[in-house]
Amino acid sequence: PEKIEAILTWKPPLGIMEKFPHLKGIISFGAGVEEILRDPQLPQNVPIVRIVEPCLTSRMTEYILLAVLRFHRQAFQYQTFQKARHWEPLPLPETSSCTIGILGLGVLGADAAMKLKTLGFPIRGWSRTPKNIDGIECFYGPDQLKLCLSKCRVLVCLLPLTPETEGILNRETFSAMPKGGYLINVARGQHLVETDLLEALDSGQLSGACLDVFSREPLPESHPFWSHPQITITPHVATQTDNEYWTEPIVDAIRCLRDGLPLKNVVNCEQGY
Ligand code: NAP
Ligand code: GLV
Repeated sequence: PEKIEAILTWKPPLGIMEKFPHLKGIISFGAGVEEILRDPQLPQNVPIVRIVEPCLTSRMTEYILLAVLRFHRQAFQYQTFQKARHWEPLPLPETSSCTIGILGLGVLGADAAMKLKTLGFPIRGWSRTPKNIDGIECFYGPDQLKLCLSKCRVLVCLLPLTPETEGILNRETFSAMPKGGYLINVARGQHLVETDLLEALDSGQLSGACLDVFSREPLPESHPFWSHPQITITPHVATQTDNEYWTEPIVDAIRCLRDGLPLKNVVNCEQGY
């Protein structure tokens, strides 16, 4: 342990970091770092660098586009029709009247916002600090959340998991959206209050949800989400990066740590992301 200067990790066991007295840096191979930050014995003043990488970003956007378009182009209704051998052309929806809200306008949220905008969807984004992004209606802070949600037919969660964002996908949030909206959670399972989602689906406040992340992973076999007709589930695969892409930012971070050069994508431990 005395020789270790850099650690590459995502979900380290609690208390492990303090066993390395000469640690210069922690490199997270995940974009979300909440599992590293939850360690109360995390050494102070050791920087945490997280992975930011174009393949990771564009795969996340692909997933979101797929989920948005499935909802927008009535894929679920047509699936039901096909099962019943029922031929019924539905009116085609207007892209310009399907506002998409993105919670989190960071690396991943901003990319999804720009690509959805290119397809003609009106986009609203919400962040912690004020933003000015061309063609995106930007909102920030708790006071502007409901205003942001008020027109969102689709809500995408791309927030980091912090004490401020835990449980943010709840009854109040769903009620602030127009009735019949659609939820896409690709951030963390703990953002979602599961019982509030089931209630919103039952009441018709939400018409469906696409979930990639869960408070317990793997999702237990007995979980009601598995068989819910309005929920689409994927096993935390919205995005991943391949070895050929992620080695470069990791090697770069190790080099910067070794040579005392400024690090990129350093986590702000106080803010939690
Ligand atoms: P990021 O660049 O750090 O962006 C985070 C965004 O969230 C920023 O816009 C930030 O606002 C905003 N935010 C943070 N706290 C907030 C608060 N209290 N209120 C409002 N906005 C807040 O993160 P990222 O790289 O885009 O990744 C986002 C998350 O995606 C990760 O943390 C991870 O949990 C998740 N993820 C999931 C997968 C998957 O496969 N499902 C893969 C990768 C990542 P500011 O801009 O004002 O700072
Ligand atoms: C995956 O969920 C990540 O945070 O990279």
